[in-house]
Amino acid sequence: MTVFAVLICLRCGNQTRHRLVKPHGACVISFLFHSVFLFTFHITSTMKKRAVDSKQNVESDSSSDDDSSGEDEEYKGGEQIQVDFEGRIPVDSDFHGIKQLLLQLFLKAHVNLSDLTELLIKQNYIGSVVKQCDDDPESDDEDDMNVDDDVYGITSVVNLTEKKSMQCVSQLRDLLKDLSTKHGDDRTVSKVNQLLDDDSHSVGLLINERFINIPPQVAVPLLMNLRKELEKAKSRKMPFDFHYFVLICKLYKMDHTKKKSKKNKNKEAEPEILWSNAEEEVFLEVADCSFEFCVKDDSDSALGGKWNESDSEMTPWRKVLIFPASKLDDVINRVTNMLQQ
Ligand SMILES: *[C@@H]1O[C@H](CO)[C@@H](O)[C@H](O)[C@H]1NC(C)=O
Ligand SMILES: *[C@@H]1O[C@H](CO)[C@@H](O)[C@H](O)[C@H]1NC(C)=O
Ligand SMILES: *[C@@H]1O[C@H](CO)[C@@H](O)[C@H](O)[C@H]1NC(C)=O
Repeated sequence: MTVFAVLICLRCGNQTRHRLVKPHGACVISFLFHSVFLFTFHITSTMKKRAVDSKQNVESDSSSDDDSSGEDEEYKGGEQIQVDFEGRIPVDSDFHGIKQLLLQLFLKAHVNLSDLTELLIKQNYIGSVVKQCDDDPESDDEDDMNVDDDVYGITSVVNLTEKKSMQCVSQLRDLLKDLSTKHGDDRTVSKVNQLLDDDSHSVGLLINERFINIPPQVAVPLLMNLRKELEKAKSRKMPFDFHYFVLICKLYKMDHTKKKSKKNKNKEAEPEILWSNAEEEVFLEVADCSFEFCVKDDSDSALGGKWNESDSEMTPWRKVLIFPASKLDDVINRVTNMLQQ
């Protein structure tokens, strides 16, 4: 299967057509908001599922592109593409993909992402990566050219209380303290310090990253699986019995220069804030405290201003949520309900 989508390469900023199965080299890529993905999702280690072709409608121009092969149709705006994804345990070959996803979250923050990626791969009894299903169940050839090592998402937890373990954990702790001091109110600052300094409170950093246009529905099985893994780890007395979770969410604040409600995907008024992972807005409801900050200067421009779809500038922000681990079930239910509406 060859699936095409219009992607924006965050490094070159170009809007080009890339293959989903082989995204643009080393670039961090993300999908345009306007392409809609239909997908099925499996949590599995070996299952291979058939992925199917595209169904398209509507107009729009065709961007010619250098890295695509012939024979295929041009990308059409509003195209729907069906892709099958599956959740799997992270393995060594996912290193690069995971690191790229972490990079889209942390940007230039002082965190050793190689170290963090290694940690996420090492704790292989917890967490999943989102991969595209192998499209051809028959071809098990080792020399199959379409070995798809691309990681479309990752969901996992990092124990922030286990500070001696790795460099990245102490960096994450410092980062949280630092950012909360700069951007949080007094209550938030003392909460963060209390949680991080008091070793009787285990704090986990919830990692919930994926390509921007992979729909929030994918989060439900991933989170449920994570919860199951946490239960299992706990019952085996492994160090994953958390009291609190920290979640760093990616937001975009829209600066409507020209007000034009082109897409009214929600019936509400135009959103001033766009959550990159829509389900994370639900986590805010259960958060004890939160703080946010602008990361415009940290990001390499690409996401701001270059989106010709909407006539508004999108400024990237981060919002840090701190919520009790006991609310995880509740929040998964709420997310499920939200997505059913
Ligand atoms: C990041 O961590 C890796 C692996 O732990 C280490 O080899 C590397 O030197 C670290 N990089 C920096 C800049 O500290
Ligand atoms: C995190 O690590 C610390 C230190 O090793 C450990 O005592 C704690 O139980 C771990 N946290 C969780 C939630 O298991
Ligand atoms: C946005 O659209 C304008 C005209 O509508 C065009 O001149 C400009 O190059 C476009 N910018 C990008 C980044 O595509």
